[in-house]
Amino acid sequence: MVEKLQAIRQEMLEKLDSAKTEADLDALNASVFGKSGALTEILRSMGKLEKEERAALGMAANKVKKELEEAISARKEKIKLEMMELAFKRDAIDVTEPGKVGRELGRLHPMTQTYREIRDALIGMGFTMFNGPEIEYDDYNFTKLNLPLDHPARDMQDTFYINDRIVLRTHTSPCEVRALLTKEPPFRIIIPGRVFRVDEVDSSHSPVFMQIEGLVVDKNLSFADLKGTLETFVQAVFGEKVKTRLRPSFFPFTEPSAEVDISCTICGGKGCRVCKNTGWIEVLGCGVSNPHIIENCGLDPKEWNAFAFGIGVDRITSLKYGISDIRLEYENDARFLKQF
Ligand code: DAH
Repeated sequence: MVEKLQAIRQEMLEKLDSAKTEADLDALNASVFGKSGALTEILRSMGKLEKEERAALGMAANKVKKELEEAISARKEKIKLEMMELAFKRDAIDVTEPGKVGRELGRLHPMTQTYREIRDALIGMGFTMFNGPEIEYDDYNFTKLNLPLDHPARDMQDTFYINDRIVLRTHTSPCEVRALLTKEPPFRIIIPGRVFRVDEVDSSHSPVFMQIEGLVVDKNLSFADLKGTLETFVQAVFGEKVKTRLRPSFFPFTEPSAEVDISCTICGGKGCRVCKNTGWIEVLGCGVSNPHIIENCGLDPKEWNAFAFGIGVDRITSLKYGISDIRLEYENDARFLKQF
């Protein structure tokens, strides 16, 4: 009997080492201590033994039982730990691991790229930056620029009025007034910014768009200075092959006034849908500042003269990249912007 006990003990200790899960352990436990377990059988059969033999075997059996129970619970603890470690490893999240989709690099909006090219070309010619507010005095937006009260551009349809005296600027030209009122001439400035007009949105109109105003104030400026400046800027932005032409025009704040056309960037001047078969596309308005404006801002027009121009940044962007619908430039659809 004692030998049998030792054999059970031996076998159990060996099996214990190879038990991998708690279920393995439970099965092993049952095979020894269960209803018909090996040790249970021995204890059950003890009744038939002599008193002395029974006592000796009882002690030995209890010792083995205790030893085995401790071994099982130690093994159980170990398996628990192993399982926990396994689970940690399996479920661990590496927060530094790159995502599946990969991070896409952002890029500059085509209008920002164009704006920076125009700005840099003009800064290269000695212009400096000047800024003004988007909410502007009616007086600066219109009156001081020679747009009297009855001028059609003041019509409620074109201008967002905040009250009788204050508007959302309809162009960047009121900043010319601000510069003339505050800056010591001579100077050369560019004024970038958003402007606002009451307009239905369509492929060529937006109630908000971007302009860059240029103003040069000096003595004895001529129309040739204006022409040279604009040709240099156009070539810097569109390349040297692009031709420029000035067409007489009218702006209340310039005299003489002109509109600048460039040879069509789509067809190279042969004539296409974009240039309406003329070979030319209008890109900006300009002129020699009307002496009234110089005077309105407290300078002596006999001493100082000026020239100015206003560039539509969205228009230049459309031409540069062949974008046929201005809405694309303002909608910020990532699929569209990705192409630039
Ligand atoms: N302010 C004009 C507009 O929004 C553009 C313009 C034309 C600006 C001639 C000028 C200029 O400075 O001289 O249409």
